[in-house]
Amino acid sequence: MLVIGSGAAGLTLALQLASHARVAVMAKSSLNEGSTNYAQGGIAAVLDAADSFDSHVQDTLDAGGGLCDPAVVRFVAQNAPEAIRRLADYGVEFTRDTDHGGADYHLTREGGHSHRRIVHAADATGRAVETTLERQVRAADIALFEHHIAVDLIRASTGYRRCIGAYALDRRDGRVKTFRARVVVLASGGFSKVYLYTSNPDGSTGDGVAMAWRAGCRVANMEFCQFHPTCLYHPQAKSFLITEAVRGEGGRLLLPNGQRFMDKFDPRGELAPRDIVARAIDHEMKRLGIDCVYLDISHKPAEFIRAHFPTVYSECLKFGHDMTTGPIPVVPAAHYSCGGVMTNMKGQTDLHGLYAIGEVSFTGLHGANRMASNSLLECLVFGAAAAADILATLPAISQPAAPPPWDESWVTDSDEEVVVSHNWDELRRSMWDYVGIVRSTKRLERAKRRIALLSSEISEYYRSFRVTNDLIELRNLTVTAGLIVASALERRESRGLHYTIDFPEPDAVAAPQNTILTPEGFAGARVR
Ligand code: FAD
Ligand code: SIN
Repeated sequence: MLVIGSGAAGLTLALQLASHARVAVMAKSSLNEGSTNYAQGGIAAVLDAADSFDSHVQDTLDAGGGLCDPAVVRFVAQNAPEAIRRLADYGVEFTRDTDHGGADYHLTREGGHSHRRIVHAADATGRAVETTLERQVRAADIALFEHHIAVDLIRASTGYRRCIGAYALDRRDGRVKTFRARVVVLASGGFSKVYLYTSNPDGSTGDGVAMAWRAGCRVANMEFCQFHPTCLYHPQAKSFLITEAVRGEGGRLLLPNGQRFMDKFDPRGELAPRDIVARAIDHEMKRLGIDCVYLDISHKPAEFIRAHFPTVYSECLKFGHDMTTGPIPVVPAAHYSCGGVMTNMKGQTDLHGLYAIGEVSFTGLHGANRMASNSLLECLVFGAAAAADILATLPAISQPAAPPPWDESWVTDSDEEVVVSHNWDELRRSMWDYVGIVRSTKRLERAKRRIALLSSEISEYYRSFRVTNDLIELRNLTVTAGLIVASALERRESRGLHYTIDFPEPDAVAAPQNTILTPEGFAGARVR
């Protein structure tokens, strides 16, 4: 079995299957270079007696703007405590509540949550999760293919619609290898790198969505791109995230004159869901013509700040901002992809033998806006659910025939790499300018024209030259951008993360609908 991706989703699944099947995990860089490793705030789970599954479910539904699938939300909320226990058994050291004797986990708060329910490892939860899972995976009987980037999924040429493997470029020697597998699992993360400014690492280029789309799977809700309200504003900081937990623990958003403004936009103030906070910041920045707003938690004791936010504190200090003594400059940046490859509650996609888990997938959990700290949770719960389904069905799945080897007889080495670097930049800038926090039909149409032009240039380039890492990613980003814009144009209303000045309100007449896109030659739905 081939698992494409080594974040929380992929490694959770791989560990649960390793003693039952031959498992290979592929990652395009080193194992830990996905979004998981950078996650800060934590993982949502009902662990406090005063909290309840009903409340976690309701908060998620409220944040999701009428588009969450209630059955999926309940499934995830109910499986959250077990997911946390499993991580703790693997060795993740979550922060304890020292104020109450240290036996229970400290639970922090984030936007949209009506209770303290975020389990965390200080402000570097993702690093604690990823390093622990990585340690377990390296000790298990799992074949690891680091620095391999999957180029495309392989479909069986005869019989029913089945995925039988993938082609992948070994980035170290430039050769494309053929991987045959009874089951392929996409755990390849999101696509926020389609925007010029993003909190994500470089690899979030939508490879999984683009590969699944080309292989004949439907995708859904691609227009719901989440912008995190608070990334450090500094030319060298590369959109370093300032965790929402800073606001959860009392951080205030301020204008340059020191005035708070969130109360004007939502009674929950700084702890409103992210779509509302990001839009409010964007509104104030445009209204006042300012480059950033400020986040201030310096009214809390310095000891408290350093203990709760050691990573954020030291990173800000590196850029000359001491958050214990004053406000820090912040701006929104692209952060999370709510849409993705359509799956059911077992992680199955439209293609037999192909699963999708984690940020690459669309499960119905997040609706029109993901609530903070529900994403790592989705990776853990669906990683386990897909593993259980694979375990149950694997004995009945035959070994596929050997796929045809990669054919590069018609290509040569590129003599015009500048086409790739130029188009990377143009695509991401167009998406930022025309498909950002506030959209309009005119801007979306403009983006659509640009993307169509880039697509045809890149397709021609792809047909003519040997593949490289940058070309593979650019090709996938362009497909993803096209899907985002097509979905955004289909939604003739504002809802959750999709806000357009041409239809500024949610459709009050029709029931809320997911935006489902179907690839050409689609041979029929398998999920939902
Ligand atoms: P990732 O962890 O992104 O891993 C993707 C994997 O796929 C990588 O191994 C990559 O190499 C591999 N891959 C991708 N394409 C290919 C390819 N073509 N071939 C081979 N391999 C490929 N969520 C929360 O719930 N709580 C938080 O506190 C939180 N904080 C965050 C902070 C930051 C800065 C960021 C960026 C995100 C945060 N999120 C948080 C979101 C969350 O971290 C991600 O949604 C989640 O980690 C995604 O996990 P994943 O396993 O789906 O993918
Ligand atoms: C954060 O720590 O603010 C990120 C949390 C998330 O994306 O869920």
